[in-house]
Amino acid sequence: MDYFAYKNNKLYCEDVDLQDIAMQYGTPCYVYSKKTLERHVDVYKKAFKSKDNLICFSVKSLSNISILEFINKKGCGFDVVSGGELKRVLHVGADPKKIIFSGVGKSYDEILLGIQNNILSFNIESEAEVYRIEEIASSKNKVVDIAIRFNPEVDSGGHEYIKTGRKGDKFGISSDDSVLKIANHIYQSKNLNLVGLACHIGSQILDLESYRLTAQNIKKLSINIKKIGHDLDFLDLGGGLGIPYENDKTPSPEELISIIEQELEDIDERIVLEPGRSISGNAGILLTTVEYIKENFLIVDAAMNDLLRPALYKAKHDVWNLKEMESIDQVWTIVGPVCESSDVIAREHSINANEGDVLAIKTAGAYGFVMSSNYNSRVRPAEVMVDGKTFNVIRSRESFNDLIKNEINLND
Ligand SMILES: Cc1ncc(COP(=O)(O)O)c(C=O)c1O
Repeated sequence: MDYFAYKNNKLYCEDVDLQDIAMQYGTPCYVYSKKTLERHVDVYKKAFKSKDNLICFSVKSLSNISILEFINKKGCGFDVVSGGELKRVLHVGADPKKIIFSGVGKSYDEILLGIQNNILSFNIESEAEVYRIEEIASSKNKVVDIAIRFNPEVDSGGHEYIKTGRKGDKFGISSDDSVLKIANHIYQSKNLNLVGLACHIGSQILDLESYRLTAQNIKKLSINIKKIGHDLDFLDLGGGLGIPYENDKTPSPEELISIIEQELEDIDERIVLEPGRSISGNAGILLTTVEYIKENFLIVDAAMNDLLRPALYKAKHDVWNLKEMESIDQVWTIVGPVCESSDVIAREHSINANEGDVLAIKTAGAYGFVMSSNYNSRVRPAEVMVDGKTFNVIRSRESFNDLIKNEINLND
């Protein structure tokens, strides 16, 4: 459910005519609906019957500081995967005790930053990482809270590039024996404290049975870990819930949480979830203008550098004309200006459009702007937030100076 809809034949975001945003800020331009974000956060929060839980918004899906500040005010924690993301959430005043740091390759400096800020947990993904955190903790005379991210060996379905919990994937610790060995080591350590067990099986997951299996696996493993003597604070089932990109039926957060609560009914630990896409995905669209029409192509001003998902994952996005049409009788392949054959926004898409029309690429809030680049020396687009009748730019369109500001001309 989102707040992008036609009123009087014009596409609105909440109470704002999207054409007004295109006129004021130009295209391509990301537009986010605050009300949609709020609704998604509230759905997650209200779905829990158990009181003890924590929603850690996955910052990698959408990381603009205005968005993070809003999500922070809504009481969520954050799942971060880099020092940059950690600095972003600290910048907006996040409570460190609601920050989880995931990722297979945390650097020395990133670990130090997390330790200095007393975050809730480092979700560790290898034995080597445990030793590195222990060494840094010992050198700073600290006791550091960590959770073990294990690999539950569950195939979550969907695109190869977004599955993370199968045997052979680079994420998490693969065998129960290795997890228990690490848990034993942590138990002996003066500088480490095991606070949780974590996993994340993938993204755009449509089959809730893979979550049921994962919940069963995490419960079993946590019981064995507690036998060592650990007293865990949380079990973290990651993010990954799928969303409708093309009007498809997707499971709701309520259904997901109900399955998890059923499976973990008799455990004492808090439940942590790390949703990204299901909060930010359909809270955002990308506005783009049709520049040219050629053969069966609509050539638009947004490209793979603005929205990489179609080129990277063959991901599908619905595309709407801001002017509502009575009937649609045209089929176009919508492409961007970048010099790559993969720069296709949508193939054989039913839409009526003319040169100069502004289109909305839907469900672009998650893994949209955050994956943008300057490829072909294109400036990154503006980001705008709508709140009821008002809208504000939350990131300006880049300029030529932004493009070259870190470059050094050796002849100058
Ligand atoms: C560890 C971790 N947690 C949470 C997420 C968020 O996933 P999603 O945006 O699909 O909810 C990801 C994304 O891949 C992840 O790697």
